[in-house]
Amino acid sequence: MTKANLSLNGTDYEFNVIVGSEGEVGVDFSTLRKTANAIAYDPAFGNTGSCSSEITFINGEKGILRYRGYAIEDLAENATFEEVMYLLVKGELPTADELKSFKGQLAEHAQIPDALIKQYQALPDGLHPMAALSSIMVSLSGYYPTTGNDDEDIVRLLAKMKAFVALGYRESKGEAFVQSKNGANYIADFVEMMFGKTTPALEQAFDQLLILHADHEQNCSASTVRMVGSSQANLYASIAAGVNALWGPLHGGANQKVIEMLEMIQNDDGDASKYLDKAKDKSDAFRLMGFGHRVYKNFDPRAKIIKVAADEVLDDLGIDDDETLDIAKALEKAALEDPYFKDRKLYPNVDFYSGIIYRALGIPTGMFTVMFALGRLPGWIAQWKEWREEPKSRIHRPRQIYTGATERKVPPITER
Ligand code: SDX
Repeated sequence: MTKANLSLNGTDYEFNVIVGSEGEVGVDFSTLRKTANAIAYDPAFGNTGSCSSEITFINGEKGILRYRGYAIEDLAENATFEEVMYLLVKGELPTADELKSFKGQLAEHAQIPDALIKQYQALPDGLHPMAALSSIMVSLSGYYPTTGNDDEDIVRLLAKMKAFVALGYRESKGEAFVQSKNGANYIADFVEMMFGKTTPALEQAFDQLLILHADHEQNCSASTVRMVGSSQANLYASIAAGVNALWGPLHGGANQKVIEMLEMIQNDDGDASKYLDKAKDKSDAFRLMGFGHRVYKNFDPRAKIIKVAADEVLDDLGIDDDETLDIAKALEKAALEDPYFKDRKLYPNVDFYSGIIYRALGIPTGMFTVMFALGRLPGWIAQWKEWREEPKSRIHRPRQIYTGATERKVPPITER
């Protein structure tokens, strides 16, 4: 076992080094405080591994993303979202019989109770769809008490999530919710529940988008799901926490902000340069939404695939000149030629083009991140399950370095 040495306050310490299956190196600091009375200090965890995992591998420098060893480009081309859900949660792609049985389970559990529909309809008008999704998610333990059999609870949640999304969409359009026909095709069933009809092009677009969003190792929302799950909170509470973390504009909420940014540029005579300058101005909180990534210091492979899909979907829909897409491409070109973005290795991420497709498919902007959550659900569940099944799993409880007031006495109020 390779060792790492640390010299601190005149004492030398030795720590084990672990090497992952892709050659990633980690110093095992799990005994650091006990042996050296010190902690590893890494705000925002950019250099800290919270776990070892067999689910998803990312090489940010090379723009590589693989689910259980399969490249995202391969899966987007040659698998269905049902197969990817099975792969992420179970660890292997299903055989034909396993897929048939899994599809049957998804179909069997696809409907949602009238009481839940009424609960959704009673939510405040104008509530953001991510808040609505989170409230529905956390209330599921009232409709479907967890059974102690995680696999049963998991397949039920995978089956029902698309109904929550379709319910939110139909409510946003003032249209009656359409229950699943318990059809054996997850995507066709979902598209019909959303739009009342389906086409091969729509099914292909949604299938690919959901695959591309399905997991992304220890991102903010997946780490949140693990954190909440580590307290032994139930599946629904853990996933609701992930929904709320994803909502943030720096994370999944960026797909909504990208479209709002592009529309702002469009309304501002399409002058992208002004927004690039704002994004570079440190005194301005504005960031180029859909650009940059904590891990990818190269193209986000998902953004590449979605960019091609955007052209195809718009073409399929007969939209031959989408000004927003043109502005996005012009903005991308300008940013990739700009030293500020090049020096910081800021490339388009998964959120940069996805909103253009969702908008073309008639999804309201406020529901873009709900679509992201639908895709990410199997990834969150896989991460939650992996932590629950980890024999050495403990409750997540980071330490801190305290920098506040040292001990002092409470003075009488007349002396404060
Ligand atoms: C997702 O983690 C995941 O895997 C997430 C995700 C997933 O699938 O789960 O991939 C999904 O969340 C994608 C990211 C969506 N968010 C956005 O598009 C929001 C815009 N992007 C940024 O806010 C930012 O790039 C983050 C949040 C994505 C990453 O932030 P980091 O890693 O904390 O980067 P940083 O703030 O340390 O930035 C480094 C430098 C800074 O400048 P300097 O201090 O070096 O001068 O780059 C600058 C930043 O100011 N910078 C940007 C920028 N992103 C980084 N400047 C302008 N516009 C941007 N978008």
